[in-house]
Amino acid sequence: MATRKKAVSRSKRAAKVAPAKGKLGVMVVGLGAVATTMIAGVEAVLRGLAKPIGSLTQMGTIRIGKRTDNRSPKIQDFVPLADLNDIVFTGWDIFKDNVYESAAHANVLDKELLQKLKPYLEKIKPMPAVFDQHYVKRLNGTHVKKGKNKKELAEQVRADIKAFKKTVDRVVMIWCGSTEIFLEPTAVHKSIKAFEKGLEANDPGIAPSQIYAYAALSEGVPFANGAPNLTVDVPAMIELSKKNNAPICGKDFKTGQTFMKTVLAPAFKARLLGVSGWYSTNILGNRDGEVLDDPESFKTKEESKLGSLEYIFQPELYPALYKDIFHKVRINYYPPRGDNKEGWDNIDIFGWLGYPMQIKVDFLCRDSILAAPIALDLVLFLDLAKRAPTLRGLGIQEWLSFYLKSPQVAEGLYPEHDLFIQLMKLKNTLRHIMGADLITHLGLEYYD
Ligand SMILES: NC(=O)c1ccc[n+]([C@@H]2O[C@H](COP(=O)([O-])OP(=O)(O)OC[C@H]3O[C@@H](n4cnc5c(N)ncnc54)[C@H](O)[C@@H]3O)[C@@H](O)[C@H]2O)c1
Repeated sequence: MATRKKAVSRSKRAAKVAPAKGKLGVMVVGLGAVATTMIAGVEAVLRGLAKPIGSLTQMGTIRIGKRTDNRSPKIQDFVPLADLNDIVFTGWDIFKDNVYESAAHANVLDKELLQKLKPYLEKIKPMPAVFDQHYVKRLNGTHVKKGKNKKELAEQVRADIKAFKKTVDRVVMIWCGSTEIFLEPTAVHKSIKAFEKGLEANDPGIAPSQIYAYAALSEGVPFANGAPNLTVDVPAMIELSKKNNAPICGKDFKTGQTFMKTVLAPAFKARLLGVSGWYSTNILGNRDGEVLDDPESFKTKEESKLGSLEYIFQPELYPALYKDIFHKVRINYYPPRGDNKEGWDNIDIFGWLGYPMQIKVDFLCRDSILAAPIALDLVLFLDLAKRAPTLRGLGIQEWLSFYLKSPQVAEGLYPEHDLFIQLMKLKNTLRHIMGADLITHLGLEYYD
């Protein structure tokens, strides 16, 4: 009887998540390598030409109930996610190239595949962007909006969103644009009021990515950030996100090297193996690599990449093991490799009685192939978050840290970087919003 009651109350709570009815409009800022690989990929999947490998929303499963229940539906059958058929893409870029041309330029996907998708891809043409070269030194675009101040530019982006909203049922925005110069929060980011004044006064602390984010959040549109830019990591944006129930999450897609770090570092810590040094270097030759060749943009990326180890190792709890780590990250622009990045890690560890050992990781990866499913999942999960009453008004969606190099958390909390804790948090959040029991992995009930 008690079980039945529990089931009824669960289904009542579950019923409260609004269904994903109608079209989901996805507004992508920056139609470069990652964005076009995501857009072309979704279309290829819809046509049965390829599989959505790497995407939790498309291929992942989730256990519900006890291990003995044998109930592990696909995530997309457990939570009401938008169907890929219902996604409508649009976006902005500083270049006029349509998505087909831009994808061809990025040279990530085979020409043969792009050719098949050409009629669809070439219809997606970028709207003029908000851009200022001061914030991305290595780019110089011509397809840009003009306005007397940043407020006017924000209003133009809001007008783009409003117009798009008329053609779809819900909207999500994702930044797949370039890495901006390193910025720290200032007085202009302290509140919505200060930020709006700053827009009018053309405050240099407001980067283009923040103009898009402000426009999105003002329109109640969730916003994801694929780059390490400051963007929504400031009180004004958090306030706006909560006020308009427009979910936000951390920043910088966790794809290659940091992905490996957040898998390996928890393993060393679990076994209490010490680490004296971790040297990470990369060569890549895409446009992202070119932008990161500028020291000011690199600094933004460096900060994002350095953060994870410090938080995973907790040197204040384990000074004998992790207090003196020498951690270095380098990115080198090397055109011949294009999007096929090579990331090397040399890890100096020590074990029993302090005896040293070394581990080498050489990840020959494909940047955008790793990033595209992350971008897709973020879009679909943010849309879900907006419809989930138990997440309403929270602003920051910490459960999406799984996808990001720099998780965003409530003030006073340290970010969780361990990939497996992040995955557990993500899946428990899905159970929570659907009213299912959380899984603690205690498992004593099997031995009763
Ligand atoms: N691919 C990965 O593995 C990965 C991982 C983490 C983060 N990222 C980040 O994702 C972002 C996109 O990466 P990418 O490889 O697609 O880069 P890309 O250079 O191919 O694409 C970026 C696009 O953004 C456009 N752009 C720049 N500023 C803009 C603005 N203000 N408004 C509109 N468009 C603008 C550029 O013209 C370009 O087309 C970068 O910031 C990168 O650092 C990528």
